[in-house]
Amino acid sequence: MSAKVDPRVVDVYKRLWKYVTPHKLIGTVAVIAMASTAVIEMTMVALVEPLMDEGLVAHNLEAIKWLPLAFVGVFVARGIAGFATEASLGWIGRSVISSLRREVFRKFLTLPARFVETSSIGPMLSRMTYNVEMVAESVTNVVTILVRDFLTVLAAIGLMLYQSSRLFVSVAVLLPIIALLIRILGKAFRRYSSKIQDSVGEVTQVTDEVLSGHRIVKIFGGQDYEMKRLVTVDDGNRRQNLKLIRSRSLGVAVTQVVFGIGMAGVIYFAGIESSAGNLSPGGFMAFFGAMMLMMQPLRRITNVNATLQRGIAAGKSLFAIIDEPDEVDSGTYRADNVRGAVEFRNIRFSYGDGAKILEDVSLTVDAGTSLAIVGQSGSGKSTLVSLLPRFYDVDSGEILLDGVPVQEYALDDLRAHISLVSQDIVLFNDTIANNLAYGQLKARSNDDLLRAAEAAHVLDFVKDLPKGLETIVGDRGVLLSGGQRQRIAIGRALLKNAPVLILDEATSSLDTKSERRIQEALSALMKNRTTLVIAHRLSTVENADKIVVLDQGRIVESGTHDELLKKNAHYADLHRLQFNDESSGSG
Ligand SMILES: Nc1ncnc2c1ncn2[C@@H]1O[C@H](COP(=O)(O)OP(=O)(O)OP(=O)(O)O)[C@@H](O)[C@H]1O
Ligand SMILES: [Mg+2]
Repeated sequence: MSAKVDPRVVDVYKRLWKYVTPHKLIGTVAVIAMASTAVIEMTMVALVEPLMDEGLVAHNLEAIKWLPLAFVGVFVARGIAGFATEASLGWIGRSVISSLRREVFRKFLTLPARFVETSSIGPMLSRMTYNVEMVAESVTNVVTILVRDFLTVLAAIGLMLYQSSRLFVSVAVLLPIIALLIRILGKAFRRYSSKIQDSVGEVTQVTDEVLSGHRIVKIFGGQDYEMKRLVTVDDGNRRQNLKLIRSRSLGVAVTQVVFGIGMAGVIYFAGIESSAGNLSPGGFMAFFGAMMLMMQPLRRITNVNATLQRGIAAGKSLFAIIDEPDEVDSGTYRADNVRGAVEFRNIRFSYGDGAKILEDVSLTVDAGTSLAIVGQSGSGKSTLVSLLPRFYDVDSGEILLDGVPVQEYALDDLRAHISLVSQDIVLFNDTIANNLAYGQLKARSNDDLLRAAEAAHVLDFVKDLPKGLETIVGDRGVLLSGGQRQRIAIGRALLKNAPVLILDEATSSLDTKSERRIQEALSALMKNRTTLVIAHRLSTVENADKIVVLDQGRIVESGTHDELLKKNAHYADLHRLQFNDESSGSG
């Protein structure tokens, strides 16, 4: 067979193979077990000859005694070999799945923000579930085909040759025809396989959105719309699968027809050979048995390309993720402690789609002081603070922490100095305690945890829960109120106790009374650390050491609350609007 193989396809398979090679011992067991299976099955067929000729035709009593025992022995051996094959291949397959899954997951943890935010979640999830299974299935099937099926076919050919070489010739003519069919039918598979994987991802996506957005679906009557969305993607999935099934079963059917014709030839020639006295009934039966035994393996060999292509399509999409570059982490500077002086120098930034989000932003925050950033929605406040922990890198300009450019810090060290309460609270489906002491905060003492929970007024609502801090918060914290989630996020940030604290609308979900109380706790905390505060409610930023007003990505004003009011420009406008809103809202 000289089928032209795409070199990239070979590369993918070579690379997949690397996940198998560490399991040499188990692999050897598998190969031995598979080879034994092939030999044992052939022994079984070979035993048919004495069974017929000695037992049934010649009525040899000796043979009638040992033959049944031999059959039992062969079946026991086959059972053992079959078990060893399944168990060892299964072991290898599951190991391949685990290592791939872990590698992809590890990559998810280090991918740049931009990549994560622009990728749909469905295909990412289906890689972790569907694709890794496909790869493992493909790898173990291919190994089975290459070892067991190949050997079975070889052994069958050997037995057929032994029984009647002339009869074998009539069968052998068919082999090249079958080989040709392999090449013709194999081409379609890869296309279908990758399309199936894409559609699995789409199904996951729609399902995930419906489940997490179920309230919106219900109140806005989105059921029909979502059902249609699912039907569309599911139809796509079904169609691709059907195409795959069709081309695969067509392959099977064609092989069977070719085999049937072969069998007709065998029966014809067998008659001639038998009448010439060259072939005993037992010899014929054994020959026929060997041919039948060869059929299944040959069929799988016909389909090896499909099996291979499925693995390659799945492997390709996994490797595409694994090969994505990590966040740039080329800095080596590490600081045991930073004072927390922050400086933005002529920052220019866009999210990569061209639109300028920040233009010429320069500001300094002295260590231990607070800076408030105010401005209209969409003016770039969250973007600005996300540059400090390097969720994104600036297009031009420089950000310094304690006078050292943030790129020069090792990424984990830089982030260790910064604590964050983000605008969209993220909680994990775990206990309140574990959400507070998340990640490296796990190492903090229980006293620290309780103190942070107290300061963030988490204990206020926790004490009413039967399970207290051990209460599970549900997916994304859905079992808690918005304000409760926010308090946990604040508690987590307090527990981190980092020299730089970023509060992006940290108290926006709280009522005025709760906000004021938490504000007190935060103010106490802000005394000895650098704080960047973003808030729409200007009452929460009044006491900041400095306030900057951001407008369409530019700083248009900066100063203290009093200075800015006196200036009677942007900030004063915002303040006046809010004051009027509040007084008209409450009165
Ligand atoms: N991850 C992102 N990818 C691409 N564009 C983004 C991303 N996040 C924000 N933007 C865009 O950047 C601009 C500024 O967004 P940003 O979140 O910084 O505003 P903001 O001042 O924090 O607004 P708000 O007060 O509503 O929170 C917006 O026009 C928004 O569309
Ligand atoms: Mg924001």
